[in-house]
Amino acid sequence: PAPGWTTRADVVVVGSGIAGLTAALRIHAADPSLHLLVVTKDVLAAGSTQWAQGGIAAALGPGDTPEQHERDTLVAGAGACDVEAVRVLVTEGPEAVRELIALGTQFDLHPDGELSLTREGGHHRDRIAHAGGDATGAEIQRALIAAVERAPAIEVIQHALAVDLLRASDGGVAGLTLHVLGEGQHDGVGAVLCRAVVLASGGLGQVFSQSTNPSVSTGDGMALAMRAGARVRDLEFVQFHPTVMWLGPDSQGQQPLISEAVRGEGAFLVDFEGDRFMRGQHELADLAPRDVVAKAITRRMIETGRPHMWLDARHLGAEFWERRFPTILRVCREHGVDPVTQLIPVAPAQHYASGGVVTDLWGRTTVAGLYATGEVACSGVHGANRLASNSLLEGLVFSRRIAEVLPAELRDWAEPAGDERPAGLVSGERRRALQEVMTSRVGVLRQADGLAEALDLLAAIEPGDAEVGPAAWETTNLVAISTALAGAAALRTETRGSHWREDFPDRDDTKAGHVDSWLVDGVVH
Ligand code: SIN
Repeated sequence: PAPGWTTRADVVVVGSGIAGLTAALRIHAADPSLHLLVVTKDVLAAGSTQWAQGGIAAALGPGDTPEQHERDTLVAGAGACDVEAVRVLVTEGPEAVRELIALGTQFDLHPDGELSLTREGGHHRDRIAHAGGDATGAEIQRALIAAVERAPAIEVIQHALAVDLLRASDGGVAGLTLHVLGEGQHDGVGAVLCRAVVLASGGLGQVFSQSTNPSVSTGDGMALAMRAGARVRDLEFVQFHPTVMWLGPDSQGQQPLISEAVRGEGAFLVDFEGDRFMRGQHELADLAPRDVVAKAITRRMIETGRPHMWLDARHLGAEFWERRFPTILRVCREHGVDPVTQLIPVAPAQHYASGGVVTDLWGRTTVAGLYATGEVACSGVHGANRLASNSLLEGLVFSRRIAEVLPAELRDWAEPAGDERPAGLVSGERRRALQEVMTSRVGVLRQADGLAEALDLLAAIEPGDAEVGPAAWETTNLVAISTALAGAAALRTETRGSHWREDFPDRDDTKAGHVDSWLVDGVVH
């Protein structure tokens, strides 16, 4: 449908997690005269940030340095990181976290007032700052929302799904179309004319049947960027978190995360015989990088024919559990498992998209006026496998960088020359089948036959005349992203980081290049 309403803002920020709200706050601080609009698909706090448990990594502890953080990040990234981007992340990280503290975020402290830092997989130092024990994301989200509420010049529209970029005749940003559900004068499909768009819309977890991501993570920003001709890369590098609570074979949607920090504090994995199978697999054993642990669990599940493995954290004791991991304790108990006295059933589930919309070191995409930050972006810091707790940090650091350059390079107002909207929409009823295809054939274990089948099945999901609305926009985006992801996974004929090919089980550095995804005439390549 044609836009039913039109409005204007200098800059539109899409998304309201750590990346989006940091971008809005910092751009506002850099140039308070700019009219800023934050649009978010649900309510401000509904994205992935508030679910982050373990924390945010930065070289803040005694003896730690950005160089050591860089080394751990590069090792986890399995040869696919952009070294310069990683250097920016680890060097600017400590100051960015201190700024978050100055904004009002209350991280956990030792009695002497120093930050309490923990360890997670792949880190050789204690460098993870946390809040509320295991509620780090919720505390950061709270502090950011409070700061945005103190800045009335930042306009917010909630329940606003970003549909497509409006581009000027030179191909750069001229605006954005939105589908808004019942927000005052902005209702239904409308257009915001603007001079820049900052995509901070998060990941794509809903491509799979089980994910730690909330229901809003449907790859909208990546699909929108692809339709606008932006370069999207590394989509095959989907991270599966090793320890997601197993709720039974039929459990669908968002699943409870058991933070790596639980292993950081001494918990360990065992199989059904009680064997600590991570020993001997890696020098860091249960705290090996995430891909190593996820693969070891999956292997042991296959070898033993079991649907999950176990996490043993009983020795941490009731008092420690209550103080350090109150959220996880509550959620486990809600699901009938008391981790103080019982083993927790765990299995890998989708957790994070390491790839996304390609950016330079300042968050610029390949489309003029379009920036990307956070999980939607591929800044190059994660490579083939993100290091634990580098994701909140990436959003924070690169949003600050966007704010440093964006005000000075704002485009002139331009008339939209076209609309990238897809010709038809896929009905929301197709979502479940799509998720099953992706989970069974493009999940932790991949091979050529399964990937080819997945691509055929996805191609058969043709857009039709589904009723215009969020469910159809999202499902259309999920099809585009799934196709790009499965296509990239088929092209990468090696095993690297979180991309595991059964038919090409080894890393092959002659195939180390990136896989880009493109849309040509509506078809993903
Ligand atoms: C966790 O707490 O294990 C998740 C941390 C992350 O994904 O970086």
